[in-house]
Amino acid sequence: MDKKEIVLSGIRSTGNLHLGNYYGALSKFVRMQDDYDCMFFIADLHALTTQPDPAQLHANVKSILAEYLAAGIDPEKATIFVQSDVPEISEMYLLLNMHVGIGELMRTAAFKDKARKALGIKTDDSADEESIERQIIGTETNKRVNAGLLTYPTLMAVDILIQKANKVPVGKDQEQHLELTRRFARRFNNYYGVELFPEPTNFDFGGHAVKVPGLDGSGKMGKSEGNCIYLIDEEKVLRKKVMRAVTDEGPKVPNSPVSQPVENLFSLMELTSAPEVVKQYRDAYADCSIRYGDLKKQLAEDILKVTTPIRQRVGDILANDEYLGRVVRMGAEKARERASKTLEEVRHIMGIRRFY
Ligand code: TYM
Repeated sequence: MDKKEIVLSGIRSTGNLHLGNYYGALSKFVRMQDDYDCMFFIADLHALTTQPDPAQLHANVKSILAEYLAAGIDPEKATIFVQSDVPEISEMYLLLNMHVGIGELMRTAAFKDKARKALGIKTDDSADEESIERQIIGTETNKRVNAGLLTYPTLMAVDILIQKANKVPVGKDQEQHLELTRRFARRFNNYYGVELFPEPTNFDFGGHAVKVPGLDGSGKMGKSEGNCIYLIDEEKVLRKKVMRAVTDEGPKVPNSPVSQPVENLFSLMELTSAPEVVKQYRDAYADCSIRYGDLKKQLAEDILKVTTPIRQRVGDILANDEYLGRVVRMGAEKARERASKTLEEVRHIMGIRRFY
């Protein structure tokens, strides 16, 4: 019998995958598939929370699927599926929502962040939380802050709990959602006096969650920040982006503190380059001999070593609709098998039982 721990993770279909997705999630997916019972999916229902163009949404699901495969997820080893192909998730989302408080959802960092953006409040604004909450409640016309966005963590918890996953490889930005998932699991188990759901944890090979910084000196690489290096960026484009990365005037005295934009470049280097290369540049910074142009050239080369093979494979995979269809059909079957079993248990536990 298969006793491997269950791993589950997903990525929203909101555009092509970037280095943040790669180091925070995808590269771990590929490394985990041999040792765990892995399920990786494309979160198209989650993408709806920010109201994408329908045709674009469909295209994005396909491109992420192709990028999963191009990065090395093997459908023979791991289950790959599209979230909306598993309708059990939507039903359980409704059921679990009955145990989730709107207050705790409104306090979620990702929700406040997205709501702020939709309302045009800058993230670095120190506007007090209560006034933001009042504005969200008060803006009935602003449907971009929709109920789906608020209940996003419930849906994410259901993705995880319906498969009874133990490990969820995600980047640092998703840790709060994972914490909520554990809370909901505990709450459900306690309320009904059952031991249905395990409490899932993040998974990282280095032992700490990854946060890939942006090239613009900002804290996080993200699609909505417009500071991304995409896995499918052409060589020229990628080099240009790296060469344009924000730096500073350079250290004037030995062992100067490192500014945030430059630290970001070092962080990217730590993810992509060999340790001795990182050391060489860190040392050069410390003794003031560093030339940011050289560092950037090196960084671009090392990133290209990671992304080029993926980019080269993506085209062929995207052109093979028959193969892509086969992969997700097979994945949906497996994902539904487990999901429908859990959903039946949840329905029964909650008292939604059939009379026939
Ligand atoms: P999403 O689509 O925003 O991001 C997908 C994955 O990429 C990681 N990531 C990063 N990691 C490090 N540094 C960055 N700059 C960076 N940017 C993105 C994210 O942490 C994530 O692991 N809610 C999820 C999707 C989801 C999910 C789930 C994940 C839905 N249901 C169930 C796991 C389990 C999300 O929006 O990820």
